[in-house]
Amino acid sequence: MEDLLDHISAEIYQNSYVIVDNFIDENFRKALLEEQINLVNQGKFRHAAVGKGGQKQVRTEIRSDEVLWMDADDLSPLQASYWAKVEEIRKVLNQRCFLGLRSFEGHFARYPIGSFYKRHLDQFHAVPHRVVTVILYLNDSWTSEDEGVLRMYFSQEDGSERYEDILPLGGRLVVFLSGEIPHEVLPTKKERISITGWLRNID
Ligand code: OGA
Ligand code: MN
Repeated sequence: MEDLLDHISAEIYQNSYVIVDNFIDENFRKALLEEQINLVNQGKFRHAAVGKGGQKQVRTEIRSDEVLWMDADDLSPLQASYWAKVEEIRKVLNQRCFLGLRSFEGHFARYPIGSFYKRHLDQFHAVPHRVVTVILYLNDSWTSEDEGVLRMYFSQEDGSERYEDILPLGGRLVVFLSGEIPHEVLPTKKERISITGWLRNID
């Protein structure tokens, strides 16, 4: 974990993002996935909203995933062990990148077949406190034919833009600066399961 934390903080410092494969082991991934599928089957997921506070609204033409927010005061043992890992990331990013990260918030996300999330930034006027986005994919198997990629956009020195497509492979962790990297989830051809969270500069 030490080397990994060094790697994560160095990449965030230099490139504003990092992708870590096999961030969690297979047993842990399967257990988290099973827990999430049970919650889906209990009808606990809701259409995700966009915006914040009074401006919060369900806009399925912008995003059509379903989410279940985790309750920091009522985490399952599995969720708590994932939060403990994120806490390590929070600390190292504060030490090495001086980001002033104070808390984490996160939700499970389920993208049913055909769902997507149009291009956006995770930090915007309504949610200024999200500094670092942390996504963990839980899918059993994924190939390029399943689509549903995370497409991240990068502006280049000549003013043009390039993008990188990231498959939501189980156990893969994606970390990036919430205010710097526009991204989208392209329509998925298979149910797509993840935990998405944000390290914030408020408590
Ligand atoms: C989000 C998001 C990307 C993904 O929930 O804000 O952009 O790959 N998710 O799930
Ligand atoms: Mn996002």
